[in-house]
Amino acid sequence: MLRELNLYPVWVRRDPAPSDQPVAESAVNAAPVDAVEAVEAVEAVEAVEAVEAVEAVEAVEPSFVSDAVTVSQYAAEIIEAQVPVADLFASDFQSATLGDAADNSLREFQLKNSGGLLGATDWPELQQKVQECADCKLRAECTQPVFGTGDLHARWLFVGEAPGAEEDERCEPFVGASGRLLDNMLLAIGLQRSEVYLANVIKCRPTDDRHPHVGEIAACLPYLKRQIGLLQPAVIVALGKTAASALLETDATIASLRGSVHDYKGIPLVVTYHPAYLLRSPLEKARAWQDLCLAVQTMEGCSG
Ligand code: URA
Repeated sequence: MLRELNLYPVWVRRDPAPSDQPVAESAVNAAPVDAVEAVEAVEAVEAVEAVEAVEAVEAVEPSFVSDAVTVSQYAAEIIEAQVPVADLFASDFQSATLGDAADNSLREFQLKNSGGLLGATDWPELQQKVQECADCKLRAECTQPVFGTGDLHARWLFVGEAPGAEEDERCEPFVGASGRLLDNMLLAIGLQRSEVYLANVIKCRPTDDRHPHVGEIAACLPYLKRQIGLLQPAVIVALGKTAASALLETDATIASLRGSVHDYKGIPLVVTYHPAYLLRSPLEKARAWQDLCLAVQTMEGCSG
């Protein structure tokens, strides 16, 4: 039983998928043993620790919506307020840290959030815009923006929260400890990192690795949305609450969002725990495995 669950190995490295078999299909075919183990693991967890597990999720998972507004509500408020972005620093929005972009007009912010400013950008142009972005103060504090990485034609998109120290240094998402776990999660469903696309909601590392503020999310989310528009993945996996909340525009808990297939602009979206959370709460890996199985099933159901 899955070792990383402390019950015995959970993320089992597999041989590469046979070349005549689609990756997702081979993953499903390979799944039963682990699926049975995972179910047993879940039952074991549930029997002993279900209540604590759920409480742990609620306690540890961040709520970026500290003042109970969603990103879209927040953005709508800013747009309705009809004030230049720079003025937000002198207003009630101050804590939302929309940035030092004093020359950023409201119109520009509005266009960016409605997709108008980025709607025609291709991959290189989008990456350039992220590189040059100064819409929030994170850019001034990080080494470099971490745009995203992987196959630009990938059918899988995995979305995390924000770069950490190693990602900031190496300019690649998920290369630190949680990235190594993510690699194993991918391998468990028959995927290599190079076969998927990895991106974060936030492109610049928040100092001290704090969770991003809602205003930072509102400022950065349009880049991720354009990435999704360009990539057109078959399935999105939201890793953790920041990704799930930002894309689904909800403040619901991960616990309540798991287990069903959501919709992001017509693309199926599955929610699971962030690998960093799984490192802190290894017993939850059984549930994360269930989520990955759901994601594989969802991919299987996608045509093309
Ligand atoms: N956590 C994330 O959400 N993204 C990364 O790229 C690294 C850690």
